[in-house]
Amino acid sequence: MPFYQRLGDVPRKRHIQFRENGTLLTEEVMGLEGFTGNESILYHLHSPCRVAKLGGFEEIKRKEWVPDQHAHRHFKTFDTEPGGDEITGRRLLMWNNDVEISLCRPTEPMDGFFRNGERDEVVFVHEGDGVLETVFGDVPYKAGDYIVLPRGTTYRFAPQGDQRYLVFETPGLITIPKRYRNEHGQLMEHAPYYHRDIHPPSELRTHRERGEFIVKVRVRDGYQTYVIDYHPFDVVGWDGYVYPWTFSIHDFEPITGRIHMPPPSHQTFAGPNFVICSFCPRKLDFDPEAIPIPYHHSNLQSEEMIYYVDGNFSSRKGIELGSITLHPSGLPHGPQPGLAEKSLGLTETHEYAVMCDTFHPLRLTSLAADLDDGKYMYSWAEDVASSNGRTPDEDPAGITSHL
Ligand SMILES: [Fe+2]
Repeated sequence: MPFYQRLGDVPRKRHIQFRENGTLLTEEVMGLEGFTGNESILYHLHSPCRVAKLGGFEEIKRKEWVPDQHAHRHFKTFDTEPGGDEITGRRLLMWNNDVEISLCRPTEPMDGFFRNGERDEVVFVHEGDGVLETVFGDVPYKAGDYIVLPRGTTYRFAPQGDQRYLVFETPGLITIPKRYRNEHGQLMEHAPYYHRDIHPPSELRTHRERGEFIVKVRVRDGYQTYVIDYHPFDVVGWDGYVYPWTFSIHDFEPITGRIHMPPPSHQTFAGPNFVICSFCPRKLDFDPEAIPIPYHHSNLQSEEMIYYVDGNFSSRKGIELGSITLHPSGLPHGPQPGLAEKSLGLTETHEYAVMCDTFHPLRLTSLAADLDDGKYMYSWAEDVASSNGRTPDEDPAGITSHL
């Protein structure tokens, strides 16, 4: 999506004969919005329609938790039970019609390939390295990467080490915010990242093996399994704008100001009715009278979920790595009492967090009920300011700097 790419061999023009050892290859145009959106053109050894056997269809079932009371929530996700593979191990935490947010700690290798036939995906890699093998070629990834996967991409994870992901799936398109790009698509000077920070597939390996291969496809709110008699990565070349890519949270260039900058300055991706933002280490607001942590705010039309990735969160009681706070619409939120005073004079913050703001309410699953700490909603009633000044291990600029 970000810019034109080409890997392997493609003919001099589209839609003309292209042969390998005399055999005509199969051209596939994989495109969005009819034939008017971005597209890539792939050249296959086999017809991508070829199916040896239909497997089963498994409907996606969501177990909803409707809390009795509407309140701010804190979900402790770090010790979520690991299990499954990179797809079956996704455990849905919250969702609405625009986005699904899941936790994933896979322990098993994928026994086949996966393609999301109806949703774009963003996999934030909290822990683990590896290679995402795809029909477009290999996409190496490491901790801190967002893997952006357009729908229609057949893939398989080849992980190295323990893995921990936060996964977003959307029926819309994941895009780079429009305001970062000029009319020609290039990222502008004020954007917090540049094309060099975006990593498309690095190597295309054409698989010619025959045999039995399983491809699971998410369609119609379920998973359809297909058995095919050729390796699905049978592409000899492709070009276009649709392909998977990575962007590291460590390459996000934070924007700071003399006084507090609002969350849109941290925006990384756009989706339909939601945004994904990256909070990274940065210098804090530098006006002598600035309060370097956020003002209270009521996002009257937003739900705000924040996933804590790395840093010192000790200033906020109970918050730890992998914590997720959810500030739902209809309620104001802000730093706990006393933290604004304590933050005065702080010059920098060291935390990493991923935020997703949705413009429609999020529904919760029974997993959220299991992980809810049941106390966070009362944390503004605690007397954080009881002692003046900071203790050495406190970092009020930590998580509160992006609330
Ligand atoms: Fe907020």
